[in-house]
Amino acid sequence: MPKCSQLNDLFTENISTLMNILVLNGPNLNLLGKREPEIYGSRTLEAIVADLIEYAGTQNTQLVHFQSNAEHELIAQIQSVLLESSVSNAPVDGIIINPAAFTHTSVALRDALLAVNLPFIEVHLSNVHKRENFRHHSYFSDIAQGVIVGLGEQGYRFALDALITILKNKN
Ligand code: DQA
Repeated sequence: MPKCSQLNDLFTENISTLMNILVLNGPNLNLLGKREPEIYGSRTLEAIVADLIEYAGTQNTQLVHFQSNAEHELIAQIQSVLLESSVSNAPVDGIIINPAAFTHTSVALRDALLAVNLPFIEVHLSNVHKRENFRHHSYFSDIAQGVIVGLGEQGYRFALDALITILKNKN
């Protein structure tokens, strides 16, 4: 039977291992399920995110998801990490981002991620390296903790597992 102080330690450890992760999805990903299913799969973003949130719960992790077709809205969401606590009043620990087409164009989103200086993982459903040349360059890969491409929706789960491990090792 653990002593009171040991229980206290366990309790504190549990609280401190609760992680808050922001999941961001860029333009046209709201059309998942309808959009080029042979490339992006047949499941909706809603279904993918619901599964991810459920899985995160089993890992003592809270997710907040945000999708936008507008670059400035994604930037505002990233900035909110510094300006206010965006995940249930708790500080955000890390970010998973599929910047979609902004991957290949957006210095502004890159700068926002550099500004908040949080570990992040870049995810792409498709294997961008098998596709058109313009998809081979990313403005994020060299500053990401890791990049997952071509594994479909599983990529988000792998990213979550990896980010949790990275964050635990950091603390
Ligand atoms: C994508 C790949 C990008 O090149 C494309 O513009 C997307 C989705 C992916 O998840 O495979 O919109 O990020």
